[in-house]
Amino acid sequence: AILAPEAGPLAGRHALVTSGPTHEPIDPVRYIANRSSGKQGHAIAAALARLGARVTLVAGPVTLPDPPGVTTLHVETAREMLAACEAALPADIAVMAAAVADWRVAREATQKLKKEPGAEAPSLTMALNPDILATISRHARRPSLVIGFAAETEQVVEHAIAKRARKGCDWILANDVSGDVMGGDANRIHLVTDSGVEDWPEMAKAEVAARLAARIAAALG
Ligand code: CTP
Ligand code: CA
Repeated sequence: AILAPEAGPLAGRHALVTSGPTHEPIDPVRYIANRSSGKQGHAIAAALARLGARVTLVAGPVTLPDPPGVTTLHVETAREMLAACEAALPADIAVMAAAVADWRVAREATQKLKKEPGAEAPSLTMALNPDILATISRHARRPSLVIGFAAETEQVVEHAIAKRARKGCDWILANDVSGDVMGGDANRIHLVTDSGVEDWPEMAKAEVAARLAARIAAALG
């Protein structure tokens, strides 16, 4: 049965969700980015809205349509994503599913870099981007439930446990991205909380989203 949003278990709650990659410009025509389709983050935003939450989705550049019933803010860089997230607070729930570029190019060229005949390839000096999940986890207006992802290619659960502590978030959804998860429709999740690790079977990203939204609703009572 389709619940009217005002009747859902998350009615009256505000959820902040990030999704997609960020693009960090090199010059007006080039950028650095992570691989991310935004499918998982967008599905989570939609699932939270279906349970009645008011949802603010801060989305990097993706080809997906804005989810229905969700306020979607479009950003390009990690710094824009952080600013949009902080401006969206207060929130009860934060789910940071974006694949944020860890580094940006320190000095973005204002004109297109030219490939002059005989010239060497340019070197790029990188600067560290802000960590949005860590910032929101330690924010004065911290949401009561802060959830991050951990995309790992090895030692998935070990890295996720360490990441949860380092970021200061409540839950981490760890996934193994060594296969074809990127852009695919399925995900295999290990949910890391303060009470341990739960291994979820492989399921569609939409099912991961529905299961997570239900867990969030149960946790917030
Ligand atoms: N994240 C973020 N801001 C960043 C980097 C990551 O908010 N600048 C968030 C992601 O949205 C995700 C979580 O942090 O929820 C973990 O991202 P991940 O890339 O797996 O972790 P990192 O701490 O960046 O470590 P590494 O890439 O070295 O594994
Ligand atoms: Ca990273």
